[in-house]
Amino acid sequence: MDAVTMIKERRSVRKYKNEKVDRETMKEIVDLSRWAPSWANYQIARYTLVDDETVIQKFAADSVQGFTYNMKTLENAKGVVVLSFVKGKSGKLDPGKGDDSTSQAGLWEIFDAGIACQTFCLAAYAKGVGTCIFGVINEDSIAEIVGLPENETVAALIVYGYPDEQPKVPERKPVDEIIRYI
Ligand SMILES: Cc1cc2nc3c(=O)[nH]c(=O)nc-3n(C[C@H](O)[C@H](O)[C@H](O)COP(=O)(O)O)c2cc1C
Repeated sequence: MDAVTMIKERRSVRKYKNEKVDRETMKEIVDLSRWAPSWANYQIARYTLVDDETVIQKFAADSVQGFTYNMKTLENAKGVVVLSFVKGKSGKLDPGKGDDSTSQAGLWEIFDAGIACQTFCLAAYAKGVGTCIFGVINEDSIAEIVGLPENETVAALIVYGYPDEQPKVPERKPVDEIIRYI
């Protein structure tokens, strides 16, 4: 698959076939996600793969703020990735000393997580696996359910499975609206 196709044709998938994605395939996708760039190459992203039906339904009940749209997607999801990141490293040149390297130091860790998230979704798409990023979540509830290590924070959920729909293509703004030259 060429990069242009991958970038343009990946869609958020919210309906999945009743077919598990095996752990080997998911490991290959995480293996590809490792190539995402990150602040000082600290590689702070972590992927907790949940394919236990009971835990997925617990996320639906407790971890999506009662947002029925996300609850419905989780009903047929075959797996969920808890995307988290190790706190307190990105944004610093020497994490041991705690010095911030830019005025927006605290934002770089979520920036790294975002890049990791898109890399994961593109890698999954290349392997035929559909994904949907969830931002409407309760991070504390998710951390508790999966027993997230104390030094990590939840960035997003990524729901996955083999697609059972051809999602409509949400329009993008015209390029002339988002570009400027100096
Ligand atoms: C940070 C972020 C949070 C999102 N949260 C949700 C969500 O909670 N539920 C959902 O169904 N889709 C969610 N989405 C998916 C967007 O709605 C989707 O990416 C957008 O409409 C463009 O569609 P496409 O991904 O098919 O190109 C989220 C996407 C991003 C990047």
